[in-house]
Amino acid sequence: MQKSILIIGACGQIGTELTMALREKYGADSVIASDIREGSDSLMQSGPFELLDATDYAAIEDVVMHYEIEEVYLMAAMLSATAEKFPMRAWNLNMNSLFNILNLAKEKKITKVFWPSSIAVFGPNTPKEQTPQNTLMEPSTVYGISKQSGERWCEYYFKKFGVDVRSVRYPGLISWKTLPGGGTTDYAVEIYHKALEEKEYTCFLAEGTKLPMMFMDDAIRATISIMDADSDTLKIRSSYNLGAMSFGPEEIAASIKNHIPDFEMSYEPDFRQAIADSWPSSIDDSKASEDWNWKPEFDLEKTTKEMLENLVKSN
Ligand SMILES: NC(=O)c1ccc[n+]([C@@H]2O[C@H](COP(=O)([O-])OP(=O)(O)OC[C@H]3O[C@@H](n4cnc5c(N)ncnc54)[C@H](O)[C@@H]3O)[C@@H](O)[C@H]2O)c1
Repeated sequence: MQKSILIIGACGQIGTELTMALREKYGADSVIASDIREGSDSLMQSGPFELLDATDYAAIEDVVMHYEIEEVYLMAAMLSATAEKFPMRAWNLNMNSLFNILNLAKEKKITKVFWPSSIAVFGPNTPKEQTPQNTLMEPSTVYGISKQSGERWCEYYFKKFGVDVRSVRYPGLISWKTLPGGGTTDYAVEIYHKALEEKEYTCFLAEGTKLPMMFMDDAIRATISIMDADSDTLKIRSSYNLGAMSFGPEEIAASIKNHIPDFEMSYEPDFRQAIADSWPSSIDDSKASEDWNWKPEFDLEKTTKEMLENLVKSN
């Protein structure tokens, strides 16, 4: 089945792999990658690319009209750790980009939207273990506030204007193809690189900081399955809880030690510790399982094996 898709923020950690997966599924020419910067060689050589600013409505509209785009995946955002340093820039990017896409859909210029939320919508007063879909939220970071507001607007546009917007609250994502872009869970990617290069890693989160995490292949599968689901089955139009595994830095270090026995880990928590402390430890994603059959495939052991094998091969 052919359809025209635009990915905004395609050169980032998720966008790179999402673009390749959608090109595999729908054909290279049907999937237009866009970003404010160029991406990896493999991404740039795999199909059409446009330089595009997610905050520029007119420019997005031009690309949408030119390629007769039906679906938009909006991956451009400023992530949690960087957003604490540039609060107003983060707010402007995260909210204006979302309004641009929701308004294009409201104007019926596109038919379907994917916009990712995050576990950062939860805050220090949220129940930490098996955090439910509907619960006290009160996010305490700029990023979390922008994601929670985004969720409210997505639901509002769905109810008020019939905009077909779909969303998941990604946990921290682990991948080997592209480095993460300034989040609080970036340590769980850096650790594999450092383990192979230097056999040691100094973690910016403290021992025992258990957070919900997911391997990228699961995140891409979740994204494509919620977009493929029948509209009627999707009961939640703010954003679905999404889970796979939960662990602290010492657990990922132990799983690496199974493969690299002389790997050593030390801890020097920085400002990101306070962000991590405000987030859940684990997530109840039963609504995603019920409504669109979500089931993760990667646990920590399988993730570590994939990460180490692929990083060795790609170097
Ligand atoms: N990676 C994670 O662990 C994680 C977890 C939860 C939610 N998310 C969400 O998923 C989405 C994608 O995250 P990611 O990890 O791929 O982020 P990333 O930082 O790796 O990539 C974001 C991309 O957006 C681009 N961008 C920035 N400003 C732009 C603009 N004005 N116009 C166009 N592009 C712009 C950047 O150049 C970058 O390539 C974000 O909404 C993020 O909040 C990510």
